[in-house]
Amino acid sequence: MSDPNNLADFLDLGWQRLTRGVADRHAAARHPIFATVSPTGQPEARTVVLRGASRADGTLEVHTDGGSDKVKSLRASPRAQLMVWDEKAKLQIRLSTSVTIHQGEDVADRWKNVPDGSRIAYGASPNPGTLIPNAHAYTKLASREWFTVLTCHVESIELMQLIDPHRRAVFKANDGWVGEWRVP
Ligand SMILES: Cc1cc2nc3c(=O)[nH]c(=O)nc-3n(C[C@H](O)[C@H](O)[C@H](O)COP(=O)(O)O)c2cc1C
Repeated sequence: MSDPNNLADFLDLGWQRLTRGVADRHAAARHPIFATVSPTGQPEARTVVLRGASRADGTLEVHTDGGSDKVKSLRASPRAQLMVWDEKAKLQIRLSTSVTIHQGEDVADRWKNVPDGSRIAYGASPNPGTLIPNAHAYTKLASREWFTVLTCHVESIELMQLIDPHRRAVFKANDGWVGEWRVP
């Protein structure tokens, strides 16, 4: 292992594990927890698929249904925290982000790349989360209109690694990602 006191190497590890999640469906970072705050102030967390991770742009990408509650929450409070527990690397990654919501023509190119079988995840009647009289009282629309891309602009990354001894660091965009050690 490289020098455990090297912050730059630690950050490299974090991004490596994240980008792996985009390419490899079996990687831990494939399925981050995506946490937002509802318009009434309730914390809400759910699993998503990590669709993109760009260290150069400092962004992560998530695809969702524009009718889902998380989109309502993000319109009210455009911030999300993503969290990954990567058991192989013994690494917890927490990313604090501000989120921009993209729909319509803006995401036409992305929609072209969504396989037919996956399009069902976008658009439902009635809207996702609506109370229904039985389990199957809904229709999936597979609709480009509801396809929504969430671009998460990473503001800070916290890495916590359960090696012996444990180590934890925080890296902030507005500090140029230099990083600082924290007590784990
Ligand atoms: C393995 C897994 C992957 C999921 N991927 C996504 C996803 O990429 N985008 C998404 O909107 N929901 C995804 N979901 C469903 C969400 O966890 C959630 O149930 C749904 O988006 C509704 O959330 P909301 O009502 O808080 O908006 C996934 C669920 C699981 C279990």
